[in-house]
Amino acid sequence: VTLPDDRVPYFLTPGPLTTSDATRNAMMRDWGSRDADFIALTARVRDRLVALVGGGDDYVCLLLQGSGTFAVEAALASLIPPDGGLLVAANGAYGRRLAEIVRRLGRAYTLWETPEDRPVDAVELGRRLAADTSLGQVAVIHCETTSGILNPLAEIAEVCAEHGRGLLVDAMSTFGALPINAPALSIEALMASSNKCLEGVPGIGFVIARTSALGKAEGRSSSLSLDLHAQWQGFEANGQWRFTPPVQVLAALDAALRQHAAAGSVAGRGVRYAANCQALVSGMRELGFETLLDDAVQAPIIVTFREPADPNYDFAKFYGALHERGYAIYPGKLTSAPSFRIGCIGAIDAEVIAGAVEAVANVLAELGITSGAPPAQ
Ligand SMILES: Cc1ncc(COP(=O)(O)O)c(C=O)c1O
Repeated sequence: VTLPDDRVPYFLTPGPLTTSDATRNAMMRDWGSRDADFIALTARVRDRLVALVGGGDDYVCLLLQGSGTFAVEAALASLIPPDGGLLVAANGAYGRRLAEIVRRLGRAYTLWETPEDRPVDAVELGRRLAADTSLGQVAVIHCETTSGILNPLAEIAEVCAEHGRGLLVDAMSTFGALPINAPALSIEALMASSNKCLEGVPGIGFVIARTSALGKAEGRSSSLSLDLHAQWQGFEANGQWRFTPPVQVLAALDAALRQHAAAGSVAGRGVRYAANCQALVSGMRELGFETLLDDAVQAPIIVTFREPADPNYDFAKFYGALHERGYAIYPGKLTSAPSFRIGCIGAIDAEVIAGAVEAVANVLAELGITSGAPPAQ
């Protein structure tokens, strides 16, 4: 990508991310929400998103104005039956937030929290489901962006299917980069957004839901705008959004999806991000930094590094000096250890990552930090 301006850094974060010129340029016009070309654009994007998870005719995509959380909230409000109990398997902040949404919705749920540096244990999940038949559904975060850990979706899905429980997946930070086959995994709904691995701009959250589950959701949501069933009926009726659509955001997503397809779809994106992640982890390790996670459970999305032990380290200074050099990183969000995060996703390649690692080396020297090594544990 050509950055639009030398004051704009590369965003090595969980989002908003660096986007391509073609994606940004797709926004340079107006659309009317009732125009045939915009209705066609909406249909095309919805179909492509369903196709990315192998959805076929059994699934539909409901686009929503807003960030990813809006999609999560709409899905939970609409897809948890009134008598349903949801088991929330949480190993980070997004799992906890999901539980908080269910709490506010006033639905029955059980929060099952496990350590942030360990994947959700599918065997233990099976035990919990066997022991508590009031748990009708399970919610899990595919990549818990808090740490960057990959939860074992296939194993979790298998356990849910075995116990006949519905599975709701927050695939916010993996959708489009890691393979997910919704029907094969018998997933009831997937939630994601325009601005992570799809590399659109922020502003659209979406849910890919099984039509059979959606068919039972009429009148369930107590929110007017975050009502998946109503949003579905709206799209079915006339192809239009129920409320003012973010027209430019949708056009950018359409352009981003075209680039995604041209670059090898999910597999292509996964390969680029894996190369970014590898370059990042190996480069940072050479500078003494340590990753929170074992390589085996690290998703190629965002990497958590422990903060250096050197007394000259200060996150605000480190962040500021990197930003000046053109790289925006992200603070840590762990409850267990002081850390910071560097993302691997967005319209960036391993060359950008190499530049970022070189900038980190220069910043360490500037701040008088001799090594990135964290305190001994
Ligand atoms: C796994 C996960 N879920 C949910 C969200 C929330 O998305 P948003 O900030 O777009 O509302 C994020 C954002 O980083 C995420 O990574």
